[in-house]
Amino acid sequence: MKKRFLTTNQGVPVSDNQSSLTVGDRGPVLLQDVHLIEKLAHFDRERIPERVVHAKGAGAHGYFQVYKSMEKYTCANFLQDPKKKTPVFVRFSTVVGARGSADSARDPRGFAVKFYTEEGNYDLVGNNLPVFFIRDAIKFPDMVHAFKPAPDTGYPTSSSANSRFWDFISLHPESTHMITWLFSDRGTVKSYRKMEGFGVNTYKWVNSKGKEVYVKYHWKPKEGIETIDRHESTRLAGEDPDIATRDLRETIASGKTVEYELRVQIMETADELKLDFDPLDATKTWPEDKYPLMPVGKMVLDRNPENFFAETEQAAFSPGSIVPGVDFSTDKLLQGRVFSYADTQRHRLGANYLQLPVNRPKAQVDNNQRDGAMQYAPYGGGTVNYEPNTLAGGMPQEASAIAVSTPNIEGRIIRKKIGLTNNFEQAGKRYCSLNKTDQDHLVGNIADSLGHADKPIQQRMVENLTKADNELGKRVAKELKL
Ligand code: HEM
Repeated sequence: MKKRFLTTNQGVPVSDNQSSLTVGDRGPVLLQDVHLIEKLAHFDRERIPERVVHAKGAGAHGYFQVYKSMEKYTCANFLQDPKKKTPVFVRFSTVVGARGSADSARDPRGFAVKFYTEEGNYDLVGNNLPVFFIRDAIKFPDMVHAFKPAPDTGYPTSSSANSRFWDFISLHPESTHMITWLFSDRGTVKSYRKMEGFGVNTYKWVNSKGKEVYVKYHWKPKEGIETIDRHESTRLAGEDPDIATRDLRETIASGKTVEYELRVQIMETADELKLDFDPLDATKTWPEDKYPLMPVGKMVLDRNPENFFAETEQAAFSPGSIVPGVDFSTDKLLQGRVFSYADTQRHRLGANYLQLPVNRPKAQVDNNQRDGAMQYAPYGGGTVNYEPNTLAGGMPQEASAIAVSTPNIEGRIIRKKIGLTNNFEQAGKRYCSLNKTDQDHLVGNIADSLGHADKPIQQRMVENLTKADNELGKRVAKELKL
């Protein structure tokens, strides 16, 4: 093996890394020991702010490949050629727990995919459950405040077993559907390889003729779905808190791949007002008999990060990061997300976070942003940093027009809840769709957690569950002795 020698960060050889520079044998230590100062000063800064949500996660590299061209629906470059392998980086995560929390705790799981396409990066930032707690981004900070540790005490750090969580949930009837997913065993997972992924929000696909359709994304794990019950989840939280993180790493390190199939539901935009629910409401699923799942392609994860911090911890995903052929719907949850992610990443990682190798597009970036902390000008120098110009021959110039969605939107400026909404119907259907064991677990899991909340909150929550399904409400009430 080639010999390598220790150096300072400036590249100067270090001949003694064992002892600080002192006056005489026993000190004091000298401030001129620049190697010691540099080492301690760097160490002092080795933590960056953790993600405000989804703090604990595991990442892997791989590729995505379509089965056949999706040109009928979208001109997105990476969805055209079955021979093309588009590189991806994926980060799976829990949502509420802090950086050192247990992987198996009840929580939604994040399922974030970065496609490094030839037309720039496309991020599909999803979860392992198909719906969400709320449907307007203005509620998100309230929701996360209620789920995270209390401001006065700093606890509880688990996601659900407390009054604050259930206080918020019971006051938001639209979250009842999400509760029937989160408190089923789908909310307790020990392997990221064996869970589904969902885009949750509604996006648009636009083809080269400018025709647009609504699209919802689904990831299906090749190995099928595996969940655990709450007792196993509690045991693993103590005995093997990093189980899902380790499982992903060790599987790939052993030479195996981890695979998922991408499927989509497509809806004509003309259909959106013909349904008895709003398809852009993130607390709802689209019925699969009306909007069948269409296989699109496969994702294969086959390479572990070399450095957890540089890649997984500094990875920055954003639903705002789209490519030509994909567009946003007016889903009010999505619209807020489109702003929030890049904003937090500028705070967490700095203005030039997109220059970090894990975030940097593989497509050439050519803009006029030259400054800001940690800039290292990888995109060419020269005197011109403005457009239009003649001094650089007019370059970079505007690209030719790309396919975008151009809906005709008019109306009064108002604040209004989503109309056409039944908060409980899909929650009730979900309960009825479960087999006996899964129904028992759902009831037990809810009662176990809700039992930690104050009585009036329990009562309010049971009323919501009863509206979803009479039997579900009754059974939870019985468990809670209400
Ligand atoms: C209005 C609603 C939402 C807002 C404002 C929001 C905001 C955020 C923020 C600020 C982060 C931290 C990002 C970072 O530090 O890099 C985050 C992470 C994340 N969010 Fe959301 N979120 C919302 C809803 C959702 C929904 C509905 C999903 C799933 C479909 C989701 C999935 C994720 C995932 C997977 C991550 C972690 C990404 C990673 O691995 O780095 N979020 N979210």
